[in-house]
Amino acid sequence: MLKSRIIATGSFVPEKILTNRDLERMVDTSDEWILERTGIRERHVVSKDESTSDLAAEAARQALKSAGLKAKDIDLIIVATCTPDMFFPSTACMVQHKIGAVHAAAFDINAACSGFLYGLSVADKFIRTGTCTRALVIGAETLTRFVDWEDRTTCVLFGDGAGAVILEPSDDESALLYTHIKSDAEYWDYIQIPGGASKEPASKTVLEKRSNTIRMKGNETFKVAVKTLETLVVDTLEQCNLKPSQLALLIPHQANLRIIQATAKRLGLSMDRVMLNLDRYGNTSAASIPIALDEAVRTGRIRRGDYLLLEAFGAGLTWASALIKW
Ligand code: UT7
Repeated sequence: MLKSRIIATGSFVPEKILTNRDLERMVDTSDEWILERTGIRERHVVSKDESTSDLAAEAARQALKSAGLKAKDIDLIIVATCTPDMFFPSTACMVQHKIGAVHAAAFDINAACSGFLYGLSVADKFIRTGTCTRALVIGAETLTRFVDWEDRTTCVLFGDGAGAVILEPSDDESALLYTHIKSDAEYWDYIQIPGGASKEPASKTVLEKRSNTIRMKGNETFKVAVKTLETLVVDTLEQCNLKPSQLALLIPHQANLRIIQATAKRLGLSMDRVMLNLDRYGNTSAASIPIALDEAVRTGRIRRGDYLLLEAFGAGLTWASALIKW
């Protein structure tokens, strides 16, 4: 059976940076608290005239350039996002238009912070079945558009950005070896934007209550995330008959340094084998893994033949993993 492999990566973050010191002037918080509890120092924030599809399109252009391909060579575009430009058309269609990928089918996936790995898993199936031959999978978010800037428990956490990969059928050992996706909606209300959609349509009341912004039971989410991810990474390696010592790099979703450290500890991995960039970007939800992957590629941290483990956890609740032989 055909397998898929990642042939190129790209990423893009908006220019404007918001530091912890900047946040100290906006809410009752401190650089020390944010750094100690999350590992975040600063995050990038979209400007007034930028939207999710702008970031996604730029990440896509970078990936196409790295691959030496034209947009018309792409036959599938999947954008993982929970902060789309609008309800419809999909952000993937907006990206298709912006880059000129005229031969592609385009659709969005929403699995919150796990979205990119859900997208990767779906694109992999399209390639394995021969339904498409060149897939562009993007994780792109503008979470800062949906935070309550008066709520210190959430506004310090999130940032904006996009990352992209291009998948092709693989004719050698370099391949996406395994993906796993799972949801458990028992805790659906742990992370949500309750208002502004069909359940509670946009209204004056929604704006007054700010229910069109992110609500998170942070500590409860933290506990489920640590427990779930510890099992997820061990199971993923077992499925591929690999030992933690064979892993070159763990590329985790960048939500909280303490969650990432707990996952690495469970595998017995030293932190130099873990890709970290949340200090500079904060939690960019579905964009965090492809941004980190692109950075790892561009800084020479990944070599051909390396085993990479990608994992994510987010609203839904959802979680996912992928094992790649580069
Ligand atoms: O990406 C998708 C999945 N999301 C996650 O994985 C996020 C998981 N959760 C987390 O990362 C952490 O729970 C947070 C970083 C959100 C919070 O850290 P925590 O250690 O769980 O803190 P907490 O919510 O238990 O709050 C501890 C204290 C509280 O004060 P009291 O009640 O003890 O007096 C909060 O009010 O810290 C206070 N606090 C803050 N203080 C200063 C909460 N936010 C802030 C803040 N600055 N920004």
